[in-house]
Amino acid sequence: MDRRFAKGVNQGVAPVTYGTGDRPPRGDYAKARADYTSEQDWAQYTGADHDTYRRLYTRQLQQLPGRACDEFIAAVQQLGTPERIPRFDEVSERLMKATGWQIVGVPGLIPEEAFFALLAARKFPVTDWIRRPEEFDYVVEPDVFHDLFGHVPLLFNPVFADYMQAYGAGGLKASRLDACELLARLYWYTVEFGLIATPQGLRAYGAGILSSAGELPYSVASPEPSRVGFALQRLMQSRYRIDTFQATYFVIDSFQQLFDATAPDFTPVYAEVRERIAREGEIEAGTVLPGERRFTV
Ligand code: PHE
Ligand code: FE
Repeated sequence: MDRRFAKGVNQGVAPVTYGTGDRPPRGDYAKARADYTSEQDWAQYTGADHDTYRRLYTRQLQQLPGRACDEFIAAVQQLGTPERIPRFDEVSERLMKATGWQIVGVPGLIPEEAFFALLAARKFPVTDWIRRPEEFDYVVEPDVFHDLFGHVPLLFNPVFADYMQAYGAGGLKASRLDACELLARLYWYTVEFGLIATPQGLRAYGAGILSSAGELPYSVASPEPSRVGFALQRLMQSRYRIDTFQATYFVIDSFQQLFDATAPDFTPVYAEVRERIAREGEIEAGTVLPGERRFTV
């Protein structure tokens, strides 16, 4: 057991991403284990909780065709019935058979290193609580709907599943190199807000998009945001928005491309990106650089 984690429990946590906000996290961290996971207490969900889940799920399901990538649509039914919040154990069992991943309950956002360690062990942390009815359209912190509906279906895809594990291992290394903020941009612009180009057009694979009723149609069809080809260093040089729809989306051609582009050792990549930032500054969200591969809708 890692004593740093044991000490950290119940002492307040740092969010996984670099958003701002000084409210304490909502979940009950007192019940968490040293690695921040906690048993999903399925019996404590109320009828209203299950109803919120069902309404979120059914609204989002009917928006998927033509917007979500095929891999997501093919796997979403693995979550089980939309009628109630799934039991994590049951989803885990199916996921384990498909790609060797599990999902584990957590009280909410957890410290970076704990998060990375879970991913590196092919365990995806899923927040156990669901948003309140008045937060139906927008919730500040990730809840069970975002974590489960947004993230879990693609963990059934073998290439994406390997990418997530590699990200976790890379995160542990980034912590040692003090490069978590650069690496977090990769997570943000791929795992949370990534688009993929298909012969049928642009599709979403990022969980932040797929769990959002407003951003899903916006991300693939609005003429407003910039959509540029995935380029690792350019991406790491780029800031992102946490309070509105994204101003820039990075587009991959395939999950294999994403996996291959991120496989090399990032130690020199971080050094180069830092140099570029020192020289040119960071790239603001929404910017399109001269000569950059653009995608239009
Ligand atoms: N290749 C990265 C490194 O050496 C690890 C990584 C893989 C990070 C995939 C993110 C995604 O740091
Ligand atoms: Fe997320």
